[in-house]
This record gives sequence, C-alpha cells and structure tokens, in this order.
Amino acid sequence: MKKLWGGRFQKTPEAWVDEFNASITFDKQLVEEDIQGSLAHVKMLAKCGILTKEEGEAIEKGLHRLLEKAKNGELEYSVQYEDIHLNIEKMLIDEIGPIGGKLHTSRSRNDQVATDMHLYLKKHVEAIVELIRELQKALVNKAEQHIETILPGYTHLQRAQPVSFAHHLLAYFWMLERDKSRFTESLKRINISPLGAAALAGTTFPIDRKYTAELLGFDEVYLNSLDAVSDRDFIVEFMSNSSLLMIHLSRFCEELILWCSQEFQFVEMDDAYSTGSSIMPQKKNPDMAELIRGKSGRVVGNLVGLLTVLKGLPLAYNKDLQEDKEGMFDTVKTVEGCLQIMTGMIETLKVNKEQMEKSVKQDFSNATELADYLAKKGLPFREAHEVVGKLVYKCIQKGIYLLDLPLEEYKEASSLFENDVYEVLNPYEAVNKRNSLGGTGFKEVKEQINKAKAII
Ligand code: ARG
Repeated sequence: MKKLWGGRFQKTPEAWVDEFNASITFDKQLVEEDIQGSLAHVKMLAKCGILTKEEGEAIEKGLHRLLEKAKNGELEYSVQYEDIHLNIEKMLIDEIGPIGGKLHTSRSRNDQVATDMHLYLKKHVEAIVELIRELQKALVNKAEQHIETILPGYTHLQRAQPVSFAHHLLAYFWMLERDKSRFTESLKRINISPLGAAALAGTTFPIDRKYTAELLGFDEVYLNSLDAVSDRDFIVEFMSNSSLLMIHLSRFCEELILWCSQEFQFVEMDDAYSTGSSIMPQKKNPDMAELIRGKSGRVVGNLVGLLTVLKGLPLAYNKDLQEDKEGMFDTVKTVEGCLQIMTGMIETLKVNKEQMEKSVKQDFSNATELADYLAKKGLPFREAHEVVGKLVYKCIQKGIYLLDLPLEEYKEASSLFENDVYEVLNPYEAVNKRNSLGGTGFKEVKEQINKAKAII
C-alpha cells in the first residue's frame, strides 16, 4: 500500500515492520484532540491566506464529519497509516478529495503529536483534580463523624499515643491537598502550545501560532521550536505527580488492609468493595485496597520508563518519543480508576469504634501523659521519663496497665503523684487535651475540619 510519505521510497516495509512501527493501536485514544488540533490549524491557514477561504471551509467540514464519526466510534483505523495523524489525514482525503492534502501545510506530525498530548493531559489533569476533591470530601465527611473516636496512634507500628480517628483521616486529606496543588500547578506547563513548531525549525509560511494557541485554549506558545517538539517534561511531571499521589493512596490502603484484619478489627470494608475466596468460605478480602496498593507499582514504573526513554535523547524529535504514550494512557486510567474506587471505599467504610477504644485502653500509650504530669509538677522531663519507664516495667511484670496500679505504688515512685493521676491516665482526656496547633485534641480537630471544608 502506498504510504503518505512514500515519494522517495522504492519499496514499502514488510507487514511486520509496519506493525512494529505503528502507534495507531494506542494513539487512537488521541483522535478527538488530533482533530481539534487540525481544526485550529486549518482555521489559521485560511485566516493567514495560506489556504483560500473555500479550501479552509472544505477541510473544516471534512474534519467535523470525522469528529462526529470518531465520537460515534465509527472510524476504522489501519496499521498501514502508522498513527492517528496519518490515519486521520488519509480519511480526510478519502472524505473530501485531494484538497484534504493541504491540511498538512506548514505542519509536521512532530508538533501535531505534541499538541495532541498537551490537549489530552490538560483534560485529564483537570478531571484528576476533581476526583481528588471528591476523595477529600469523603474523608472530611467520615472525619466529622469520628472526631471523638479514639484509637492508638503508632510509631514504628508500636502503640505510641492515642489519637482521634478524624485526625488520622485528615492526615490523608492534607497529603491529597498537596497532590491537588501539584497537579493544578502543573497545568501551567501543560497549557502551552507547540503547534506551528513544525518538524523542528518552524516554517517559511506566514503562520500565526498565537491564533491556534488561542483557538485551542492554550495560555502560551513554546518560544523555541526545537524545545516545542522534543519537550516531554510535562508528561514526566504528570507521571511524577501521579506517582506521589499513588504512594499516598497506597500507604492509606496498607493501613486499611491492616485495620480490617482479625488482628486489628478497627474497620470493616463494605461488601461491595470486598471479594471472597474460591476455597475458604469464611474469607472477606480487601482486594480493592490491595489493588490500589499494587497499582502504585505500575504508575511509578511508567515514570521511570519515560525518564529512561528521555535520558540521552538528542534534539529534536526521535521516534523513541513514541514510547511516551502507552505509559501516559496507563497512568491516566490507573489514577482515575484508583481515585474513584478509593472514594467509594471510604464512603462505605464501617468504623469499629468500640474495638479502637478497647485497643487504646489495653496498652501503655498513656505513659507520656504520666511523664508530662510529673514534668508539669517541676520534675525535669528526663527524670520523669525514667520514673514512668520503671512504672511501665513494673506493670508489665504484674500483667496490668498504668490505670490499674494503686496510688501507693505511684507515691512510692515519686512523692509528686496524687489522686488526680488517674484522670491524666484516661486516654480520652489524653487526646482531648492535645490542642496545640495541628494537634489531635478534639477542639483542634474541629478547627482542622473547618479549614478543610473551606478548601474543598
Ligand atoms: N506516532 C508518532 C509518535 O507518537 C508521531 C510523530 C511521528 N513523527 C515522525 N517524524 N515520524 O511520536
């Protein structure tokens, strides 16, 4: 079959070479962006007198018909025409005749593909920002219901100090807030038009790049044609932002998985977000959370894959750059899917308040309160730490907790202890009193919820 670029060739590639070379199997996802880009380009060609008004209108009409068919899934692509750009050009020529061949005047697939990807990512980054917002809303709603639900806070996965469950959930809210701001900030660098850079050096035709940029909703144009066609930073940045977001989701999922184990029993996943075992009838597995944790791997993999493609690439366009697409599409699909599943999972999560509170009572996470108690009475904190450490050891020997230790034994350890020690040891009070800025105290958590609500 004759190639659209076949003029200087004596032979056509073997079928399997065509297949190896083609990107149409995956870049057909860019069809709408590709046609939008062409529509802007042809309008500009007519406006600048590079095509006649009639030629411009004929091409526009043809492109609109193709766009309609694309939306209805009626286009049939061929590996023979390599990629989305040549497939659409061929279809246009078939649709309106040889005049369709004028569309590619003063343009190259190199600026065309870059334009398509800028448009595609702009749309999806905006969608991802909204999906993050939805997840944040689910977290705030859940947090509001659990301001006074207390559970052990951990360091080293050892019980450390009790915290409010709302506070724990809100920690993820703020991570997501940073993710959201990174994605939003990146739009600045996505929203730049490479169109009109042509193959690498610009063009001799009197084009108007600012006009096409404006038609496509770009804020700026690339100021260097070599940079315009070879820049993939905006995709790396998207993948990097996605990786960090996925790491946050993965850490959260790891906690949810632990929490719904028999060992913790802090939460229960809704049946709609769990699966069973084909052999063990009793099982209810948190597969969705495990999948999100697992899928963080492919998103990070896509980032490393693209960085590796770019390393050592000379200017300007090289076919290696065709390898940027599958990872980008995969990252978009994965991130959008994970955010939606995660939101549903949080909305339907059942919280086992009793079990959380039971865990807080049967441990030593109130030991810091005791040391603080002595420190407030003037004992240097280091000495208070030592006194309480010894008391904890004593309790462990006896198989009891600090609340069970009689007052005489406290007094024996330090004359500063008085009857009010038991109030201080109450884990609920331990949380309630931590109202330093950003602390887990109920008052402070309510304040945090107000701030979170103001943002979303
Ligand atoms: N399919 C190509 C890609 O994805 C489009 C650009 C091709 N340019 C070229 N000079 N061969 O990168």
